[in-house]
Amino acid sequence: MEKETMQSLMRVAIEYRLRAYAPYSKFKVGAALLTEEGQIFGGCNIENASYTPTNCAERTAFFKAVSEGYFKFKGIAIVGGKEDAELQFCAPCGVCRQVMMEFCDPETFIVVLGTSVDDFKAYTLKEILPLGFGPEDLK
Ligand code: THU
Repeated sequence: MEKETMQSLMRVAIEYRLRAYAPYSKFKVGAALLTEEGQIFGGCNIENASYTPTNCAERTAFFKAVSEGYFKFKGIAIVGGKEDAELQFCAPCGVCRQVMMEFCDPETFIVVLGTSVDDFKAYTLKEILPLGFGPEDLK
């Protein structure tokens, strides 16, 4: 994936983080998911007073995309940090990695993590979820 594409994803993730509903943890996360078709779906974390229904930013982006009929993805950018603090390096939780595994090729899907449009690193899904279990295992 080109650097400019990753920067665009970082920009959208930073923008969507502002929409986070996180009154309990006060930890706000934004995500930007790029489809094979070139469309970008943004997402934010959405918490709940009952805690467990909380949805992470990454899954919000995936579920928005899938519900709109998109199933093939190139990569995702994720940014996070405490409400009134600087962004910090924020890696996806295990549940979100598993959701990525459902829809993405672990060898090629790119996960972009960082703190600004000029400070990020790219990983493959396989790097952050080695030995993952996915749809291929059920064939
Ligand atoms: N969170 C995300 O949205 N994505 C991550 O990758 C890590 C955690 C959210 C869930 C919860 O609303 C808050 O961050 C604190 O865990």
